[in-house]
Amino acid sequence: MTKDIKLRLKDVSSSNPGNLEAVFSLGNGHFGVRATNPIESSAVEGTLVNGFFEYSPITYGEAAAYYPKRNETIVSLPNLRKIRVFDDGHGEFTHSKLVDMQLDLSNGKLVEEYELSNDKKQTIKMNVTSAIDQREVHFYGIEYAFEAETYKGDIYIDKNFVLEEAKGETGDDIDDPRKTRELKSIKREVVATDDLSQTIAISTAESKQRIEITAYGFNDESHLSTKLSLADEPKVSYGFIVGEKNEKGDFAKEDFATIKENSASFWHDTWQNGEVSIAGNDELNLALHYNIFQLNQATGRDGKTNIAAKGLTGPGYEGHTFWDTEMYMIPYFIYTNPEIAKKLLVYRYNTLDFARTRARELGVNQGALFAWRSINGEETSAYYPASTAAYHLDGDIAYAIGNYYQATHDMEFLKDYGFEMLLETARFFREFGTWAKKDGKTVFEFHTVTGPDEYTAMVDNNYFTNRMAQNNFNLAYKLGLVLMEKNPEAFGKLGVSIEELEVFKDIAEKIYFPFNDEYQINAQDDTFFSKAIWPFDETPKDKYPLLLHYHPLNIYRYQVNKQADTVLADLLFPETIDDDQLSREFDYYEKITTHDSSLSRSIFSALAARMGDMKKAYSYFSDTVRMDLTDLQGNTEDGLHLANLGGSWLSVVQGFAGMQVTSAGELKIIPHLPIEWDGFEFRIVFNGRLLNINIIDGKTTIKLVDGQPMNIIVDNKSYKLEKATLEILSKGE
Ligand code: BGC
Repeated sequence: MTKDIKLRLKDVSSSNPGNLEAVFSLGNGHFGVRATNPIESSAVEGTLVNGFFEYSPITYGEAAAYYPKRNETIVSLPNLRKIRVFDDGHGEFTHSKLVDMQLDLSNGKLVEEYELSNDKKQTIKMNVTSAIDQREVHFYGIEYAFEAETYKGDIYIDKNFVLEEAKGETGDDIDDPRKTRELKSIKREVVATDDLSQTIAISTAESKQRIEITAYGFNDESHLSTKLSLADEPKVSYGFIVGEKNEKGDFAKEDFATIKENSASFWHDTWQNGEVSIAGNDELNLALHYNIFQLNQATGRDGKTNIAAKGLTGPGYEGHTFWDTEMYMIPYFIYTNPEIAKKLLVYRYNTLDFARTRARELGVNQGALFAWRSINGEETSAYYPASTAAYHLDGDIAYAIGNYYQATHDMEFLKDYGFEMLLETARFFREFGTWAKKDGKTVFEFHTVTGPDEYTAMVDNNYFTNRMAQNNFNLAYKLGLVLMEKNPEAFGKLGVSIEELEVFKDIAEKIYFPFNDEYQINAQDDTFFSKAIWPFDETPKDKYPLLLHYHPLNIYRYQVNKQADTVLADLLFPETIDDDQLSREFDYYEKITTHDSSLSRSIFSALAARMGDMKKAYSYFSDTVRMDLTDLQGNTEDGLHLANLGGSWLSVVQGFAGMQVTSAGELKIIPHLPIEWDGFEFRIVFNGRLLNINIIDGKTTIKLVDGQPMNIIVDNKSYKLEKATLEILSKGE
């Protein structure tokens, strides 16, 4: 990072406590610690642990065969940050006024300033500094510095974990599917306590998971609960570490200095390969850095955990992972930190058995269908029209595998994980699709399917799904041949033949794509254009998002989009559409899109940029990049919108810079600079090279920071990029 960038309280529009807790949360892919008020009770309690969940039964009014039987819900740990501060007359400092918060994105340090007061209205100042270890992910440290104000006596600090049940979680009777449910089978107990440390255990009755957390003082002699004197020294400090055993079951204490160092060095490395910045607009530049920071904080890095829709910043969507990971978040990692991208794909691989079982439940005797929403890979959605029917997910995973391979040529990955997933997803599509006759031609179709747009369900031939399936078949064919050639033994072990690959190729060629002749655009599905357009003029503003105010069947009978659907396919497959059709398609679908899903605007921004409609691109981007800082969706307190965080990176890199990889495997950019900016700059890792791309008015500069010479296409012209040279290649707009 060229200069230190900090997020301050003034940069966040809503100061509702729940909102601030989520926005200023710290995480390391394992723990997520909301910035809860250390003195007063919090809106949504405390800390989340990636992969730590509890089952609860799903109760159906009317069940049917193979409906999922159990929910999975991420479990909140008690508030780790909570302390009680007493004065010397047995009064307590129970009130706190938040003065400022400051999250340093260059090193991951969070500083908060409060003024505390007791019932006598005496005040002291409390500055809280916290950091989470990004290398030894089992540790979090927090330091409280007190300063005398009108109160100048002794203070007594009580640090005991508060074990009462989580607050703020909603019950089963809510009709907002984006929230979480209440858990009744969580046990919290103190397992050991003495002057220097306290250990608590949190266990789940049904999923049989258990976590032990220990709080201990900064020094071997420092007591957890202690007395400090503000009389002699007007400034004093106190702190503790919270940690757990590592994977091997060992507990080797970390100190605060190490935690801070590990955090700072991690962020240094992360920015080094993945910096993206905007010149000439500090507000958007800060928001963009913030989004990338939070995306990294939420991401499981161990191959066993993934990224929840709300990351580790809140319990919304119950901590479930969706297609959001592959379509919105993995691209950032593929092109900045492929090791993490690989881990996220390995997580999917580790859920293959659940996916195979699910495919059998759907009557398919070969292949695998991954879970629409889940923590451990088991399908948990009770509403199949917007989950199981959205089986484009298989193709989304395949798409990510294809991109990862293209950007790394990681043969080991292809051999051990990637090809098997491509094979199993292609098999699912083959078995679940249907051969049909259309205009005298034999075509391959998908019926009763839901695309990304959740306001249209169970239709025939969703264009997006058909594209993703086609890509899946092509990848299984092409990468199958690669594996067969490079490692026939590994290929042979998977029980696949060249004939089966040929079948994939044949289906890919014959997949049917619905087209609307009247508007000359790709049709979202076979019947989309026979529906009436949603009565937008008669829909008051407060009836959005529609999903909270209208029965799904009411919504499904209209042309109305919750989010980008057909146009998302256009972004992902630029070679399938010409500029004129893209512009017609964008115009048509934009008019009927509500953006009720946070996954929508970034795609419209990226496409508008590619089309050169910079006004629109900029406007969508401004909303996208600041979505959680402005609480645009109105529910940031339940957790940040992780897909959109990744989406804002997509907008810049795949939209404004127009980055894509051609079918020949070459990196290509088509820069478009909004007039509001002086320029923008980003780093990309591609097949072992590190590139720095800088776009300013009239000039694109590409630097090969590391790696072998390569070709790059800029504005449709091919250039050779030599080691450590700085080439001025083209005009931006
Ligand atoms: C969107 C889905 C998304 C989910 C989780 C829903 O509102 O429609 O596409 O996967 O949120 O982010």
